[in-house]
Amino acid sequence: MGKLMIFDHPLIQHKVSLMRMQSTPTKDFRELAKEVVTLMTFEATRNLPLKQVEIDTPICKATVNMLDGEDIAIVPILRAGLGFVDGMLSLVPNAKVGHIGLYRDPDTHLPVEYYCKLPNDIDKRWVYIVDPMLATGGSAVAAIDFIKQRGAKRINFICLIAAPEGIQKLREAHPDVDIYCAALDDHLNEHAYIVPGLGDAGDRLYGTK
Ligand code: PRP
Ligand code: URA
Repeated sequence: MGKLMIFDHPLIQHKVSLMRMQSTPTKDFRELAKEVVTLMTFEATRNLPLKQVEIDTPICKATVNMLDGEDIAIVPILRAGLGFVDGMLSLVPNAKVGHIGLYRDPDTHLPVEYYCKLPNDIDKRWVYIVDPMLATGGSAVAAIDFIKQRGAKRINFICLIAAPEGIQKLREAHPDVDIYCAALDDHLNEHAYIVPGLGDAGDRLYGTK
């Protein structure tokens, strides 16, 4: 079974609490999203493989550990997942970025696909799917289905807030995927929104509605 990590770091908890507040404006919400995902990326990339590289220090030759940037793909689920890309790229600037467009049908709450463009070599990369909200889990499961159809095996899912229902669905459908959440909330309401949550993540990021 993949890892399930709920972050308890005080900086992450504080920033997520600010994001939950209805009074937090779009500009601050965007900045906080970037800060939180950057902090989460630090931990979520802990298992990335290193390669040994020979370099010259001012003193001597040395064999040192370095990341192989060619190894990583970040895949935001549009549109809210886009708000996470810059924070991740600030730590892994050579990563490739794929995009999966999904929206939830307002009546059925099921994901509807409208776009999918992934790096050709996604099957060889460590994949980080990013989306602020894991509610019913339908969008995450569909996104991971696409990526597995392209051959990817090493998949991580990073979200800001998860509902227990979403975690359960994702773990049942894709038990091999590591899940990283900044907060695990209480339940879903009758509109499949996370309670207490932060509202509609896309609207909060882009100032729509
Ligand atoms: C939100 C969110 C997730 C999805 C989560 O996107 O960003 O993608 O809902 O819900 P689920 O776990 O029940 O599938 P939304 O469909 O609102 O689209 P948007 O990002 O374009 O606003
Ligand atoms: N999508 C959101 O943006 N927020 C929720 O609470 C659930 C799904």
